[in-house]
Amino acid sequence: MHQIRGNKLETLKVDSLRKYFFTKKGLMTRSLLLKAVDGVAFSIGEDKIFALVGESGCGKSTVARLVVGLIQPTSGKVLFQGKNIFEMNGDDLKRFRKSVQIIFQDPFASLNPRKSIMDTVSEPLKIHKIVGKKSLKDKVIELLSKVGLGSDLLHRYPHELSGGQRQRVCIARVIAVSPQLIVADEPLSALDISIQAQILNLLNELKKEYRLSFLFISHDLKVVHYFSDTIGVMYLGKIVEYAKTEDLFNKPFHPYTEVLLSSAPVIPTSGLWSYTSRITHHALHIIQGEVPSPIDIPPGCPFHTRCPKRFDPCNKIVPQLKEIKGRLVSCHLF
Ligand SMILES: Nc1ncnc2c1ncn2[C@@H]1O[C@H](COP(=O)(O)OP(=O)(O)OP(=O)(O)O)[C@@H](O)[C@H]1O
Ligand code: SF4
Ligand SMILES: [Mg+2]
Repeated sequence: MHQIRGNKLETLKVDSLRKYFFTKKGLMTRSLLLKAVDGVAFSIGEDKIFALVGESGCGKSTVARLVVGLIQPTSGKVLFQGKNIFEMNGDDLKRFRKSVQIIFQDPFASLNPRKSIMDTVSEPLKIHKIVGKKSLKDKVIELLSKVGLGSDLLHRYPHELSGGQRQRVCIARVIAVSPQLIVADEPLSALDISIQAQILNLLNELKKEYRLSFLFISHDLKVVHYFSDTIGVMYLGKIVEYAKTEDLFNKPFHPYTEVLLSSAPVIPTSGLWSYTSRITHHALHIIQGEVPSPIDIPPGCPFHTRCPKRFDPCNKIVPQLKEIKGRLVSCHLF
């Protein structure tokens, strides 16, 4: 499988992962094949952050759901510490469910409105038998404090909290089980701009403290720049460029990456701590034309209908992902 050299210990390895859905269009009775994820491969080392970026509908959340085992793949493997998660059972499966956790975009939707914060955060501690009944409250208070929340929130309910506080509760619940890998699916997108930097800083601190690995999904290229070690750029279910973050930002190779980066605002100062705004869908929409439907993927290079650099073979021959100067790119220009 494809991989970038330099990652020593791999926490997660994804190989030839495919997820096809059968779906209906309009009034049609016939089901059509939708290739949401089509042969994706990447790996995430211990204490490393791999970011997936790309426009809406390119398959990022489907990859996230596959990686945590919420859905079964059409084909391919997800290896957690060398074992395929779709063949796991018994203790291996229990360990996987504890070690790999997910944070979603909308913290309100992922919290049970009828459960207090105490109940919400203590639930995983009970399920995974992490502390006894006596120490439960102390442990919940400790976890809340780790995510910057006070014990005054213990008996509050999600609707009484702000968006940022709710995402902090989700993070507390996730770190409660001492995971090794966190899959964060657009964890900032539903939050106010002023809160996004705080949550990002919190994730960064927790990453350092617990030596966590991340699969970090974002539209926001600035966040990805300062938060990730490697990046996979997705287009219509495929990774089209896979590179170390600095290499990708210094010089994007794939024309799609190039357009994504050129539509991102210039970053005035460096460093995660100066992060103040976001790009999200707005910048991505500057790219010429609409993304084609994953039901009707263009022949040849899937990006050729929008590519400013397309040339003769692009609409006929599918480019393969190949290694160029320590990164992977699928484009006939290389
Ligand atoms: N259960 C499903 N049944 C049919 N199609 C699906 C299903 N889940 C996802 N899809 C389709 O798969 C494609 C990829 O969706 P996905 O949610 O993974 O994209 P995404 O990159 O996360 O987009 P966004 O940035 O908007 O969150 C989309 O066309 C979506 O409509
Ligand atoms: S293969 Fe052709 S159309 Fe596709 S990205 Fe490269 S130049 Fe553009
Ligand atoms: Mg998504």
